[in-house]
Amino acid sequence: MNVVLKSESDIEKMRAAGRLASEVLDYIAPYIKPGVTTGKLDRLCHDYMVDVQGTVPATLGYAPPGHRPYPASCCTSVNHQVCHGIPGDKVLKNGDVINIDVTVIHQTYHGDTSRMFYVGEPSIQAKRLCETTYEAMWRGIRKVQPGATIGDIGHAIQTLAEGNGFSVVREFCGHGIGQKFHEDPQILHYGRPGQGMKLQAGMIFTVEPMINAGKRDIRMLGDGWTVVTADHSLSAQWEHTVLVTPTGYEVLTLSAGSPPPPVATATAAHA
Ligand code: MF3
Ligand code: CO
Ligand code: CO
Repeated sequence: MNVVLKSESDIEKMRAAGRLASEVLDYIAPYIKPGVTTGKLDRLCHDYMVDVQGTVPATLGYAPPGHRPYPASCCTSVNHQVCHGIPGDKVLKNGDVINIDVTVIHQTYHGDTSRMFYVGEPSIQAKRLCETTYEAMWRGIRKVQPGATIGDIGHAIQTLAEGNGFSVVREFCGHGIGQKFHEDPQILHYGRPGQGMKLQAGMIFTVEPMINAGKRDIRMLGDGWTVVTADHSLSAQWEHTVLVTPTGYEVLTLSAGSPPPPVATATAAHA
């Protein structure tokens, strides 16, 4: 793996990019209501990024090898959609859950974050999945410090998800990020403690677990982007961009509207 350590001036710009990405989610939150279309949410996000922030939506026209260009300014993944849902005519209804994933480019640097939102009132099962996935992301983030390994992060996420009867999607992972949208290292959301590359101060990467209520298997839709659960069970995802600091971590994608981190609890088997 070809991991680039960030300089102090890179880090300053990544802080700004991260906060701006999170502020797009703050902005869009009040619009997520029954009756709105995912396409309308996308247009609102696009205009906020371009006209208000002066940022560039990194997903618009993004075309990694083997993919057609992504056609929108955010990803909107509803219910059994795992990730990369393309905004369009879909009308949100009471009880849906939606992930909105935003990546901005600010002064050539990327900030990448996503949250789950409830459309009206969620079911008990949907709420439990979204809350557990949020906790899983944070348990992974809290492992981040120099000398810890990528496997430590993945293990913390996998243990919480599977301990709650859910499953971890394997085909997509967190990623290094900077002046490139996706770079090394790959941050798996499953693994064994001590396995994989050691973290070093100055690395910046995302932690973005996708957790399914049913089995972990996924399918790709014919649009070439939207990923869904094979069994059509609900799926949830949260994402932060994280810096490894000399003493631990700094979450770069926080803003006024970020939900508070969960209260840290013991991670013993029966805790
Ligand atoms: N933001 C996604 C991630 O977390 C990537 C979306 S790429 C797109 O890595 F093309 F689907 F938008
Ligand atoms: Co990402
Ligand atoms: Co993202």
